[in-house]
Amino acid sequence: MTGFVLVAKTTDLADPGQMLAEVDDRVVVLLKVGEEFFCLDDVCTHDGGPLSDGRLDDHTIACPRHGAKFDVRTGKALTMPATEDTVAHEVIIRGDEVWVRINESGAPLAKSAADTASAIAGEEKRPGSTHDTGDWDPKSVPMTVGATPEPYAAGSISEDLIREELKKVIDPELFVNIVDLGLIYNVDLLPAAEGKIDCKIDMTMTSPMCPAGPQMIQNSKQVLGQLPGMGNVEVKIVLDPPWTPDKMTQDARDQLGIF
Ligand code: FES
Repeated sequence: MTGFVLVAKTTDLADPGQMLAEVDDRVVVLLKVGEEFFCLDDVCTHDGGPLSDGRLDDHTIACPRHGAKFDVRTGKALTMPATEDTVAHEVIIRGDEVWVRINESGAPLAKSAADTASAIAGEEKRPGSTHDTGDWDPKSVPMTVGATPEPYAAGSISEDLIREELKKVIDPELFVNIVDLGLIYNVDLLPAAEGKIDCKIDMTMTSPMCPAGPQMIQNSKQVLGQLPGMGNVEVKIVLDPPWTPDKMTQDARDQLGIF
């Protein structure tokens, strides 16, 4: 059994808010609602959508891809198209620190602080998700210190990686990622100072009047800017050749119900 991992400071999250984290090589989303903190696998069980990019509303997080909703307290799938629950993990607060223990069994969450406290003490292994109100000493359980996830090593930036990362950017009107929509025309990678790589993207729009353009540009820069070794990211809108539906992948067609 793995121990609790220090993941964040309580002040790292807005209220309500969420952040991506890595615990024991598992990518999770940490969530704050009022005075409570929760932790889920960062995976929508419908088709792998990143819940960390979803909209948090009270105790519900909506997948940014097709809108499936999950209860952040339990990981329970609340709406279609998700039919399976995602895994919720134990969270405990000590002072201003947020600690998480991976729920390896995927068992349902405990509901109360008492449940969590007893699980921490080793009396039960039921996962829970709440503040620690007991006398638990973090030094008494096995633990490692969490780190910001770095799934890619610096120097490994490639066009394939860029396109894969850009799949995290969703067209807010069609709810399909911009790569599968065929909006990324060209990716140029150029050597930059300090061994970094500058990236220039040619992106188009499904229509010249598309109001989502600035948001998709901003989100693309944000996603790519987080890659280790990434320098400047430039996104240029090109309307020639104009976008046509045949530029979509089969995945995009399936998601839009186009056969
Ligand atoms: S991937 Fe989350 S609803 Fe489809």
